[in-house]
Amino acid sequence: MKRVASLMEGWARGLGLPESEVLRWRAAAYLHDVLRDADWDDLRKQAPPAVRDLPGPLLHGPVASQRLWEEGVEDQEFLTAVAYHTVGYPELEAMGQALFVADFVEPGRREDREWRRQLRESMPEEWDRVTRIVTATRIHRILQREWPLRRETVGFWNRLVGQKAPDDQGGDPGPEDGR
Ligand SMILES: [Fe+2]
Repeated sequence: MKRVASLMEGWARGLGLPESEVLRWRAAAYLHDVLRDADWDDLRKQAPPAVRDLPGPLLHGPVASQRLWEEGVEDQEFLTAVAYHTVGYPELEAMGQALFVADFVEPGRREDREWRRQLRESMPEEWDRVTRIVTATRIHRILQREWPLRRETVGFWNRLVGQKAPDDQGGDPGPEDGR
């Protein structure tokens, strides 16, 4: 959690976000995995019906989000970021996307260390590219495990390939506009 928080803080600062946002991003990082080590059967019993069919390792996000809401957190973007940090979600805003990416590239992960280092060092400057790579890799792993693809994950991918970076204010039509 500390490693994810330190990445999120660096990226929030890199984007020039105000201190209140930096704090909010850090809080999401500290809370997103609060139930990661909980028993999958217990999590499934507590999970909202819409996500009860998630594979065991992915249940801790939605249940943590629900618990935070029950405890009085009303920040919807924050709750969505926590809920979908492993699944992806079309409406993930900058904080949710950052959490999704940070969780994947954090330096504690042992596999593909050099590749993950390059990805995290490309953030936040190459936000779109890195987010697409992380999402594509996660989707690939879902397919390899022969898990079903969630509608939320597919929607997230479709948004990533059809939209611009969350910090992009527009102006550049991009190559797809055919201008
Ligand atoms: Fe997690």
